[in-house]
This record gives sequence, C-alpha cells and structure tokens, in this order.
Amino acid sequence: MRRLNRKQTLKVVKELDAFPKVPESYQETSSTGGTLALLTFLLIGVLIISEIRYYADTRMKYEYTVDADLNSKLTINVDITVAMKCGWIGADVVDISGETTTPARGNIKEEAVYFEKTPEQRHRQETFKMIKAALSEEHALQDLLFQSGFDSKPTESPPNKKGKGPPDACRLHGSLVVNKVAGNFHVTVGKSIPHPKGHAHLALMVDPSQYNFSHRIDHLSFGEPAPGIINQLDAEEKVTKDNRRIYQYFLQIVPTKVNTRKARMNTHQFAVTERERTINHNEGSHGVSGIFFKYDLSSLEISVTETHEPYSQFLIRLCGIVGGIFATSGILHSFLEVLISAICCRYKFSTHTPSQPTTVPADHQLDHTTPNLAASDPNSQANPSIPSPQ
Ligand SMILES: *[C@@H]1O[C@H](CO)[C@@H](O)[C@H](O)[C@H]1NC(C)=O
Repeated sequence: MRRLNRKQTLKVVKELDAFPKVPESYQETSSTGGTLALLTFLLIGVLIISEIRYYADTRMKYEYTVDADLNSKLTINVDITVAMKCGWIGADVVDISGETTTPARGNIKEEAVYFEKTPEQRHRQETFKMIKAALSEEHALQDLLFQSGFDSKPTESPPNKKGKGPPDACRLHGSLVVNKVAGNFHVTVGKSIPHPKGHAHLALMVDPSQYNFSHRIDHLSFGEPAPGIINQLDAEEKVTKDNRRIYQYFLQIVPTKVNTRKARMNTHQFAVTERERTINHNEGSHGVSGIFFKYDLSSLEISVTETHEPYSQFLIRLCGIVGGIFATSGILHSFLEVLISAICCRYKFSTHTPSQPTTVPADHQLDHTTPNLAASDPNSQANPSIPSPQ
C-alpha cells in the first residue's frame, strides 16, 4: 500500500517536471545557433562582471534627524595665522550663556612666524582651492571624499619660520572646549582680561597704525576632525591694506555622524557666510577691528552612511540577467531561423539531404522505438540490417 502511494507520488512529481528532455538525436545544431550561443555567453560574462563590480561599489546615504546628542561641550580646532605680532593680539570665545573661554583654559598655542607662505603651504592652499571649487560644482565628489577617507588635517604643512628680520605674524593653533551653544570666537588687538560683565581687550599699548588683520585660516573645524570632510574655511586667506578692518564669519554648524569603511565618528560640518569692512567712525562704520567667528548650532543632525546593495538583490539581479538573456537569445534565434529559411527557401528545398530530421531514415526511427514493440510488429522488416526471408 505504502509502496503504491510512493509510486503514485513519484508519478505526480515526474509529471511536474518542467524541464522536458529531448533525445539528442532530435536536436539540431546549426552554425547560426552556435554563433548566437557564443555571443550570448560572452554577453552574460560581461554583464556578470559589471554586476559584480557594481555590487562591490558602495553608495553614501544621507539622513537627517534631530540632534539627540546630550553632550554639552563642543571642541573648536583652529590654526590661524594673523599678520601681527603675538604680543599684540588675543583670542577667546564668548558664548550666549555669558561664559568666556580664554585660550588659557583651552589649548591654543601662540607661535611667532612669518606671514609669507612656504612652498608647501602654497601647494596645500592651491589643492584646497581646487577641491572646494570642484565640490561646489559636483556634489558627487563629496561621496568620493568620504569613501577615500580624505584627510584634511593641516599637519603636513609646517609654518614658515625662516625670513628676514623678526617674525611679522602670529600663528594661533590648537583646540578649545566650549559650551555647545551659540558663541563668538574672535581674535582682536590686546590680551583679554576678565571682566564681571564679560571681558575686555587691553588694546591701549598698540597704535592703530600698526594693526594688520590680514590672516590665513589653515584649519577651522568643530568636534573630532573626520576624514572626508572639507571645512569651508580651510586655506582661506585675506590680505588687506587697511589697518582697521573687521572680518566677520557667520557659521552654521551641523552635527554630522560619519559611518564609513574608513571612519566612524561624530563630528561637525559648517556652512559659512562672510562679511568684511573697514572701520571708519567718521563714515558711520563702527565696530572693533578684528576677526570674528560667530557660530550657531543646527538642531538637525546629518548622518552619512556608506552602504552596500543587499546580497539578495545582487543574486536576483544575476538571475534576471542570465535568464533574461537566455530567453531573449532563444526568441532571437527562432526569429533568425525563420528569416534565414525565408530568404534561402528555394536553396534549402533543393539541397534537402536525408540527414535532415524532417526526413529521418527508417533505421534511425527504429532506434528509438521500444524493443518489444519492434519485435511484435510484423512489418518491422523495414530495418535494412535484417535480411528479408525470401
Ligand atoms: C599686512 O600684511 C600683509 C602681508 O605682509 C601686507 O600685504 C599688507 O599690506 C599689510 N597690511 C597693512 C595694513 O599693513
């Protein structure tokens, strides 16, 4: 009983076979088919290789969320060279909570240097200008920078320490940790002295005719320096002939989570608008000469993730390519057959040979009939190999 059931199941399963087998001798091969098959395999090979390369490639995904980082501190990394002696200028940060952060509480070093650039510094500045110009035209370049983990840190360009006379400029470099609220980082004349209502800069010793706020920003970033992020103000240089000049940079800082193969970190990017003018109290242009960075934090956070296409998608695409090309080439093949036979119709009819399957010789036919059927058939003498009893 069970055996019968099994037999029946086997029969049903056999009937479900979607791959009918045709005996080889019924299959016809032709040079058209062969050429087409060769081309098909070639095409499949090329497409599979390109598909694998596409799969190996990664894409950058950008997402925006509300900044949920409760860390209330922000690091400012600076490397600025101002065309004035270190003794004359001071840098500090005032934020909207009223707190003043002087470099003494951070880690900003002052270094006497020459304002003129060394060849390495000039090279770096040109590279950055080129990258920034290209970025503003082609945003896809940003993806490439993230993928390659481009390092934008200024370590490879040491300051200019060789020149005539005493150093004419001051390099301020290092980092400051400030409250994560809007604030103002500035460089003005005189060292800052704490004051109950903020702070004041002791500027009395320097004559305004000595002021020179020409400056070069080698680096300005917020948070951890992340590879792939080009900071907008890096390699920016401003030279002025006016003594009393005010430079204002308005920065909008955007927290950014970077998650690539090269790096995984929380950092910040910023957008900047700049403004500069000459202070002239007679013409109504008031203010304090200096360099001011007014920053504010965005409440939105960008997360940048390097992603792969899922493996299942890749497999589905492969199957689609192989199956699709096979099916299409099959259709193409039958179409070609019809076309060729239509064109060489007469030629084909006149050269019909017995080897064509349409006129299978008797012996050929017999090979495939079942043996007991052939034996029971009295007319099986059609087989020329059996001598007729005469
Ligand atoms: C400031 O210094 C730069 C570079 O040395 C120079 O080109 C510029 O003329 C100076 N500006 C003033 C106002 O002295």
